[in-house]
Amino acid sequence: MRTRPLKVALLGCGVVGSEVARIMTTHADDLTQRIGAPVELAGVAVRRPSKVREGIDPSLITTDATALLKRGDIDIAIEVIGGIEPARALITTAFEQGISVVSANKALLAQDGAALHAAAEAAGLDLYYEAAVAGAIPLVRPMRESLAGDKINRVMGIVNGTTNFILDKMDSTGAGYQEALDEATALGYAEADPTADVEGYDAAAKAAILAGIAFHTRVRLDDVSREGMTEVSAADFASAKRMGCTIKLLAILERAADGESVTARVHPAMIPLSHPLASVREAYNAVFVEAEAAGRLMFYGPGAGGAPTASAVLGDLVAVARNKLAEATGPGESAYTQLPVSPMGDVVTRYHISLDVADKPGVLAQVATTFAEHGVSIDTVRQQGKDGEASLVVVTHRAPDAALSGTVEALRKLDTVRGVASIMRVEGE
Ligand code: NDP
Ligand code: HSE
Repeated sequence: MRTRPLKVALLGCGVVGSEVARIMTTHADDLTQRIGAPVELAGVAVRRPSKVREGIDPSLITTDATALLKRGDIDIAIEVIGGIEPARALITTAFEQGISVVSANKALLAQDGAALHAAAEAAGLDLYYEAAVAGAIPLVRPMRESLAGDKINRVMGIVNGTTNFILDKMDSTGAGYQEALDEATALGYAEADPTADVEGYDAAAKAAILAGIAFHTRVRLDDVSREGMTEVSAADFASAKRMGCTIKLLAILERAADGESVTARVHPAMIPLSHPLASVREAYNAVFVEAEAAGRLMFYGPGAGGAPTASAVLGDLVAVARNKLAEATGPGESAYTQLPVSPMGDVVTRYHISLDVADKPGVLAQVATTFAEHGVSIDTVRQQGKDGEASLVVVTHRAPDAALSGTVEALRKLDTVRGVASIMRVEGE
């Protein structure tokens, strides 16, 4: 057992960082045994130095993260600041200083993962980021390492805790959107700017990271087709309920049947109540991975929050510390397939379309003809009339997204269609 400690710089001490510091302190002896050397919290970089931070020696606090990394004795940096800058510059500085990095920063990894991986590899250092996707759930390392001998064809899951919390509250208690978002924020689930959660950017960043790992290719945030959940209404939930469904914000990554391209998307979708994802409540996440030999695997657990996320960070810290002692590194980026990412129009799925129409003879036939003209086959239609107007709900069979967009564009031009109230994809059947 080595007695000289491995020194850790903690960059950020908010919801996640404060829990990392707490567990490093309270579990110090166990961590020492598991690593084979003590790990010492050698410095904590924050923005507001005067804030009271329970359990942290005030002499460790600094506002100069760069100086902390450059002081010459740091072995491992944990980046839990979030956002693009200064996180990117700090991780780059760490690599220049010979320091391995553990990060929870999905936004940065989805935007600049390739460059950061390259910098780590060039310096012979580790970049680990289990906490960046699905909080406490071991998912990144199982996909990078345990499934490295298999071929992953599809990944579908709930990867944002905040939006799952909001949708769950709207569905189960009838809570309003803002009330549920405020609660998720108070519980430490939301990003610094919760727009990242509700508009789907956070889930899209995680989707980009998972797609890269699953398909051994590079997928950036901009490659992921993204729709948030701010438009999901009580009427959508009522409609979903009538179909025996609920609504979840899903990330779906697919390899094309010919294996020559992939798709990556994030959007709200109706899923049957019998589907395992339908029972994922509150800020929990769940991810299905379909691999050629393994079949269908499901990963489930807390997807956000300080302590759950710190668990994933600490797991990475132990792995990186062990690598340091062995003078080795873990697996780097694997992007050898270089598969193109196809546009959303190529995605094939089912749709639930809610229309406000005039309630008069021939309207239903006109609407049905428009679907047929665009090659979209109708599965069910439900009409409810009221005072000369009617609400028409059409559920389709599987069709390309481009065909559905063409249908909706044409429907909007019909005099008898007063408006398209909502369009939602139907998944998981
Ligand atoms: P917080 O906003 O709670 O914490 C951010 C921390 O960074 C704060 O301690 C803040 O200092 C510090 N900080 C901000 N700017 C600087 C700077 N320029 N220099 C030094 N320190 C700075 O964020 P979270 O802990 O929630 O999230 C951290 C990361 O973890 C993000 O990448 C997030 O996406 C990711 N993550 C978060 C999860 C969660 O459930 N919260 C789950 C999974 C991942 P100060 O305390 O002084 O304000
Ligand atoms: N804001 C994120 C979420 C944190 O709600 O899932 C976990 O990555």
